[in-house]
Amino acid sequence: MKKLQRDAIDKLSPYVPGKPVAEVQREYGIADIIKMASNENPLGASPRAVAAVKKAAEQIYFYPEGSCFELRKAMAEHLQMPAETLIFGNGSDELLLLISQVFLNPQDEVLQGDPKLTFVEYKAVTTIADATPVIVEMKDFAYDLSAMAEKITPKTKVVFITNPNNPTGTMITKTELDEFLGKIPEDVIVILDEAYYEYVGRADYPESVEYVKQGKNVIILRTFSKIYGLAGIRLGYGIAKKELIDLLEKARQPFNVNLLAQAAGIAALKDNKFVEESKQVNNEGKRWLGDAFEAMGISFVASEANFILFDVKIEARPVTEALMKEGIIVRCIGTGTTIRVTIGTMQQNRRFISALKKVLK
Ligand SMILES: Cc1ncc(COP(=O)(O)O)c(C=O)c1O
Repeated sequence: MKKLQRDAIDKLSPYVPGKPVAEVQREYGIADIIKMASNENPLGASPRAVAAVKKAAEQIYFYPEGSCFELRKAMAEHLQMPAETLIFGNGSDELLLLISQVFLNPQDEVLQGDPKLTFVEYKAVTTIADATPVIVEMKDFAYDLSAMAEKITPKTKVVFITNPNNPTGTMITKTELDEFLGKIPEDVIVILDEAYYEYVGRADYPESVEYVKQGKNVIILRTFSKIYGLAGIRLGYGIAKKELIDLLEKARQPFNVNLLAQAAGIAALKDNKFVEESKQVNNEGKRWLGDAFEAMGISFVASEANFILFDVKIEARPVTEALMKEGIIVRCIGTGTTIRVTIGTMQQNRRFISALKKVLK
């Protein structure tokens, strides 16, 4: 096998997803499992999207529309951006890989946060391209943009920023991002991964499409996996100036977004009711869980997303294992003593906290 593989593959390990419900059911013999591990929407999928998928199912003998024509039109209108500033992917994960294929030469440097405390896929796609990940330590669970700017060298090609960040939920403000982008050379591309964009309620969150309008080398990535509840159908999108999108389009697989995902996306975009309800449930759950952690003396990171990272101050793995036996799946992620929990419905949040109390006793 060693002779067959590319050398870069040695540096990779497979992505470890949150444990599937069926596996936990089988392993622990518990029927009633709550998955709070992958930042999915606890309300399910947008009902309008589900109806659209059912309707489109009859059409699956056709190839999908390669350019996502109707979805592109709907998104352009939604964002008030020209259609040619958009690209769609089989989840934003696919777009991360596409970015690495299109922009990274071997040995290019790629600035990113510590993969323990930010999204791990940046390191993976950098490594696949044989480029060099330049890891910048996080500060107080957040991106240290000054330290990042200092690490820029003539070899730097791409910078990955997650805002709000996963798994910490911390947010970079408009002022901070403006200042950082001001220090970035023109031949460096900044990826702003905004998978949790719709959840942010703060007024000082940057409206990043403005950077695209200003002609900066910025690619924004967003997804239908989170607030629209479409993680299983795989749909993400990118927003960037036309020149960058044109390059990405050259390497994109012709039918990368399936027909059902396109139908789901168009319908979900119109489902304001579902989005508002999802935000409301998330905000209520976030406040409640924060209060519960405080009452238990557990420190946590204030989050702008649909999850919270909390610190049990002991090895986290046995805690997540014990929670699983109580029917709660959460992710052991971060420092070794931290756990990320996806904010659920109030019923799920209550069950999670009572299980956590029992386990930590
Ligand atoms: C920061 C971040 N980026 C990208 C993704 C990938 O999202 P998608 O489901 O669109 O591939 C996730 C998923 O959890 C994420 O947290």
